[in-house]
Amino acid sequence: MKHAVLLGSLFMATTAMLPFASMAAQATRASFGHAADGQNIDIVTLTNSHGMRARVMTYGASLQSLLVPDRNGKLADVVLGYDTLQGYLDRRQYFGATVGRYANRIAHGTFPLDGKAYHLTLNDGPNSLHGGVKGLDMQVWKVVDVKQGAVASVTMQYSSPDGDQGYPGNVTIKATYALSDDNQLKIAYVATTDKPTIVNLSNHTYWNLGGEGSGTVMDHLLMIPGDAITPVDATSIPNGQVVPVAGTPYDFRMAKPIGRDIRDGRSQQLLFGHGYDMNWVISRKEAEARVVARVEDPRSGRVMTLWSSKPGLQFYSGNFLDGTTVGKDHHIYRQGDAFVLEPQLFPDTPNHPDFGSARLAPGETYRNTIIYRFGVDGAMAK
Ligand code: BGC
Repeated sequence: MKHAVLLGSLFMATTAMLPFASMAAQATRASFGHAADGQNIDIVTLTNSHGMRARVMTYGASLQSLLVPDRNGKLADVVLGYDTLQGYLDRRQYFGATVGRYANRIAHGTFPLDGKAYHLTLNDGPNSLHGGVKGLDMQVWKVVDVKQGAVASVTMQYSSPDGDQGYPGNVTIKATYALSDDNQLKIAYVATTDKPTIVNLSNHTYWNLGGEGSGTVMDHLLMIPGDAITPVDATSIPNGQVVPVAGTPYDFRMAKPIGRDIRDGRSQQLLFGHGYDMNWVISRKEAEARVVARVEDPRSGRVMTLWSSKPGLQFYSGNFLDGTTVGKDHHIYRQGDAFVLEPQLFPDTPNHPDFGSARLAPGETYRNTIIYRFGVDGAMAK
């Protein structure tokens, strides 16, 4: 508690000392309410000189809103979610959330590590999804650093205890959200452990480049530079195959509207997922950071490119938004009103050794840096 007060006052002091006009990007901090157990939830607002504004809350280290200009400079909030903390407490749905300790699914919530089987909490039929019953998206993180200047940023930290949801090791996780003046939002995830464990972190923001609540994203143009997908079974667990996208509805190597092939009933995968909900193979191994997706909304002109070094990209077309969620500004969210792009390891990697490794050992540092670059009509966001 003392620590938090001290950090708070340090931050206030920093704000007061910097001359207002010289600050390109700024950060402010406020309370966003209280979790069910009474813990305070902070929200940090990052702004840049183009009017972009990101709000990040400590409940699930989540992106609560993001204002982005369109081709006429008009701002809209391009992420789905709720206006109040209560919305997130009542119906989480991973809006804007940091997901883990293992983003995506682990079959039957069971994985082997160093000759021992570990069992996770199950929250998705027979499987464990996005970390289990109480994943990182529902934990209260704490603000450990706030910066402003050329880049405005906030770092949040959560210490996940040994055995949390069944995962071994005390794992310390940091999430830094940084907004720069070139309209780039960067999320840097870092994790360390005191025992061998598995880690796979990502961000689960639901995007609508026309603005949340503005309708469907089926006309957004999506490009994913992946030659193959890892098909899944009826419970969304990879069946172990790696299948080329050529000639299938999964071929997004040339940009096409999200909705163009989504109703192709010959595709078992689209039936299983009620739309797109699978992993694209961007590369077989971790690589230098590169573009893993590009999305353009022809109506507003907003363009987003997504950068990461991870081998996989889960693309989920908001299939389970069913018109029963009332989000920001009383907007009802319906199927296909958003898309989710999650750079990560392939799903269920710990049960598929040929997919790579999710193992993290003491002394090692796990990293996933995701960059979202915004522009309009092809400018700035290449
Ligand atoms: C998964 C979907 C799941 C959704 C929950 C996505 O990452 O791929 O299967 O329904 O998260 O919001």
